[in-house]
This record gives sequence, C-alpha cells and structure tokens, in this order.
Amino acid sequence: MANKKILILSGSPKKNGNTAALVGWFSEGARSKGAEVEIVETAFLKYKSSGCASCRTCQEIEEYECVIDDDAKSVLKKMVHADMIVMATPLYFFGPSAQLKIVFDRMFSLYKWDNKADTMKTPLKGKTLVLIASAYESAGLAALEEPFKMTAGYTGMQFKSLLVPNAGESGEVNKIPGIREKAIAFGAAA
Ligand SMILES: Cc1cc2nc3c(=O)[nH]c(=O)nc-3n(C[C@H](O)[C@H](O)[C@H](O)COP(=O)(O)O)c2cc1C
Repeated sequence: MANKKILILSGSPKKNGNTAALVGWFSEGARSKGAEVEIVETAFLKYKSSGCASCRTCQEIEEYECVIDDDAKSVLKKMVHADMIVMATPLYFFGPSAQLKIVFDRMFSLYKWDNKADTMKTPLKGKTLVLIASAYESAGLAALEEPFKMTAGYTGMQFKSLLVPNAGESGEVNKIPGIREKAIAFGAAA
C-alpha cells in the first residue's frame, strides 16, 4: 500500500512558536510510521485575494479548484491529493488565526453544490481532518474546535484533534510536561 500523504497547513505567523513545535512533533511521529508529510506555512504564502472572494466561479466549472491563481490555489490542489489534512493554529480570539482561515475559506472551491437537487459533492470526502491548536486557556480551544469538527462532519471526513492549553506565550509549549511525547504519539497514530 502507498504511504499515507499528510498535508499540514500551519497557520501561525511565528516560525518558532508553539504551533511550529507541535507540528514538528506531530510530523516526527507520522514520519516514523512511513507517512509522507508536507508542511505549508500559510502565513508566508502570496495571495492575490484577501480571502475567498465569493465569486462563485468555482461552482460553474467542472474542476475542483479555485480560479484565483495564487499560492492558495496550489495548496488547495495538494489538499485534494492528501489522505489527511492537518490544520494547525494558535487560538486567536476563540477562533483560528486569519493566516489559516484565509485558506480554510477558499476550500469552498473544493465543493460543488446543487441547491435544487439538494446535493453536495467534494473530493475531500473520506479523508481525515486533524486540528492542532494551542492557547492560554482550554475554554477557548473547545470553542475553536467546533467549526473544524462541524466542517469535517458536513464534508464526510474523519476528525481528530490535539488541543493544548497552558501555552499563553509563544515557546511555552516546550515547558508543558509530556506534551512532546503526546504530540509525537498523536502523529504516529494519525
Ligand atoms: C492575536 C492573539 C489572540 C489570542 N487570543 C487568545 C484567546 O482568545 N484565548 C487564549 O487562550 N489565547 C489566546 N492567544 C494566545 C495564543 O493562542 C497562544 O499563545 C498560542 O499558543 C500561540 O501560538 P504560536 O506561538 O504558534 O503563535 C492569543 C494570541 C494572540 C497573538
């Protein structure tokens, strides 16, 4: 069987912060089991649009792709070819970072809706969506998890998460006892 393809969208503006550490440990675990892991840092992509333009052109074409020709378009293509999509983000005001949300919203182009027939098709169906997030407090992380879990359910994806509280400052995740081992094991089981 071919190796599992894992695409990680890492949405922190901090190159060496908590998200980067968690993504690194997750990847280490996943690679130890033979997975092919690619990490995309969404904060450093070049965009031609400040988000989904809601042009709906994607709904008029046969391909599952965004018509805005920038870095997000190629990341969306990679999502179609991955077995597992990991979204990693710091908690920003009870939601994901804008740097992750910009790609998340453009995932609209990977769905085709027929409202008359009440149908939805997507090549994401059957894949796994993983959320990795850190924050100062756990209450906010529970709120953050909801849109990801609901999107996975709506899409027909499996859902898993690793939510890490007590990381209020970037770098603090390294001081949490056992978190490195937990994140590696989470990646190995992915
Ligand atoms: C703009 C901003 C908003 C934040 N909002 C919250 C929040 O609502 N709740 C919380 O517990 N932590 C919040 N935090 C803390 C971050 O979620 C936390 O430090 C995270 O682990 C940082 O990850 P990073 O090092 O990868 O950037 C916020 C931090 C920033 C910069």
